[in-house]
Amino acid sequence: MALVRFGISLEKKLLEKFDQLIKNKNYTNRSEAFRDLIREELVKKQWQEAGAIAGAITLIYDHHKRELVNMLMDIQHDFGDIIISSQHVHLDHSNCLEIIAVKGSSQEAQKLADRLKSVKGVKHGTLSMSTTGEDI
Ligand code: NI
Repeated sequence: MALVRFGISLEKKLLEKFDQLIKNKNYTNRSEAFRDLIREELVKKQWQEAGAIAGAITLIYDHHKRELVNMLMDIQHDFGDIIISSQHVHLDHSNCLEIIAVKGSSQEAQKLADRLKSVKGVKHGTLSMSTTGEDI
């Protein structure tokens, strides 16, 4: 892709703070940091406009609670159209980690994550939303 150069005017103090911030985040130069900030905003806009997102839901739960396992399975079948993959890891004797990859509308992904997290016995759940990579 062609690169375009352009100048940005900033207050000195703001730039110093920015430089400190990106140094802490291990960016090697300002351009890369700006690019990531811009991409981040574009991804947020996609979410807000309910465009397609890709993401991952992670759940930690105790598989000894049989009803919980069935419930999680039922919910996932209800959302079969946005779940593209799932992985189950046995963390220890009791605890399981499940990672569910999703692709679809941000609202549906959020709804699925909320449903799964609210099942009694789920110890922790997160939804990490990202972009499908299109239009970024
Ligand atoms: Ni397990």
